[in-house]
Amino acid sequence: MIALTLADIARAVEGTLVGGDPETRVTGPVEHDSRKVVPGGLFIAFPGEKVDGHEFAPAAVERGAVAVIGLRPVDAPTIVVDDPLRAIGLLATFVAPRLDATIVGVTGSSGKTTTKDLIAQVVAELGPTIAPAGSLNNELGHPSTVLRADEDTRFLVLEYSARHIGDIDYLCRIAGPRIAAVLNVGTSHIGEFGSQDNIATAKAELVEALPDTGLAILNADDPRVRAMAPRTRARVLLVGEAADADVRAEAVTVDDRGRAAFTLVTPEGSTPVALGVSGRHQVGNVLVAAAVGRELGLSLAQLGDILPRLRLVSARRMDVFDRRDGVTVIDDSYNANPASMSAAVRALADMSGKRRSWAVLGYMAELGAEEVPGHESVGRLAAELGVDRLVAVGDGAGPLADGAEKVADWAGEAVRVTDQEAAIALLDGALSPGDVVLVKGSRYRTWQVADALREGLSA
Ligand SMILES: Nc1ncnc2c1ncn2[C@@H]1O[C@H](COP(=O)(O)OP(=O)(O)OP(=O)(O)O)[C@@H](O)[C@H]1O
Ligand SMILES: [Mg+2]
Repeated sequence: MIALTLADIARAVEGTLVGGDPETRVTGPVEHDSRKVVPGGLFIAFPGEKVDGHEFAPAAVERGAVAVIGLRPVDAPTIVVDDPLRAIGLLATFVAPRLDATIVGVTGSSGKTTTKDLIAQVVAELGPTIAPAGSLNNELGHPSTVLRADEDTRFLVLEYSARHIGDIDYLCRIAGPRIAAVLNVGTSHIGEFGSQDNIATAKAELVEALPDTGLAILNADDPRVRAMAPRTRARVLLVGEAADADVRAEAVTVDDRGRAAFTLVTPEGSTPVALGVSGRHQVGNVLVAAAVGRELGLSLAQLGDILPRLRLVSARRMDVFDRRDGVTVIDDSYNANPASMSAAVRALADMSGKRRSWAVLGYMAELGAEEVPGHESVGRLAAELGVDRLVAVGDGAGPLADGAEKVADWAGEAVRVTDQEAAIALLDGALSPGDVVLVKGSRYRTWQVADALREGLSA
């Protein structure tokens, strides 16, 4: 965090300093996990359902926290507040305009974390960048990330997520972007939102929050995203494969590692790009990263040099690895919705060629009325693309298998297993050298399978 006195912080969070010198300066980051506190930092105690953060204040102080924000005084200088979550938001709101950093924001139903990581690698070429790995996109993760920036930070790359209309607006009030990208409008959390139009309304809040000096980067290939153009006062840049996209990919090909190559076309000219990351769906994500880099001054030649070097850095997203036994694994198990699962199944098909392919797929949560059709459509796609084995893992995953079996001329086979252990046992007995295995489902629902494949199935 930028250096602030306890008096500044107390004022920013509308709290009261109890004990300690108001002129004491906090120079380190703000942490709510006492194990992560570093000397000069600030510890924020949340009441928590299972553990009370206040009990960890002594440990935080031992690690060098100079003060604590909490609901009640602890045995250290404490800024007492009514609501620690509101306090961390207020502190981020106070800090953001005092940074010498450009905030780049990303939203969309799928690919926020991936694209945030890609953008971060691009802008890191231009200056110190904060964009922690993982999915820190809500009312806690967002301000926490903003507060990681300090005097040296030039770029903050943040993902903005929504489960309700108004969520992104709230995050933007804490700290909004100058450059914002909307990737896609899918069906994740549609159970909560009610309709895709509501999802579009929620995502559009990111570009609505831009200043008129800002830039909105919109996916030209997604009609609901493209339609957001009139909703921002900022300049609009279209990216995608559509002929009218300002920054576009032409002549896309995909190799047997699922890596796309294309011609990057910009108003300044074009250059060939061969990506190192797997999945054809990365093309759109990389175009967004290229558009951000271009806006911040990178030349076409620099982009041509940087884009092939981009890597996926957050865990369980299109993580492709070869096992010693000759089996190739695509660990895309972090989370799933029908769009991202379809993208992963396409990558599996691109990568398997003549090799035997396995799609080990778990339940996709929060789809509401779209639940059964959503699962069936992915199963159907897998069969249409010629996936050899579809393993539907656990409760609610059955319609994936049903969808595949509805494809009349499918030569493959669907298997339903009750849980992840059963999937692991099945694979243990059945995988052969040369097989390609995709693992994917909502959150933890296929993580054990992915970990077992990583470690070698049988001990
Ligand atoms: N443009 C895209 N279209 C479809 N799927 C994508 C796209 N980009 C990434 N994915 C896939 O979506 C899944 C989730 O990726 P990622 O974690 O980047 O998304 P997210 O939007 O941050 O998700 P969350 O809402 O869980 O934070 C991964 O399986 C990833 O490979
Ligand atoms: Mg995320």
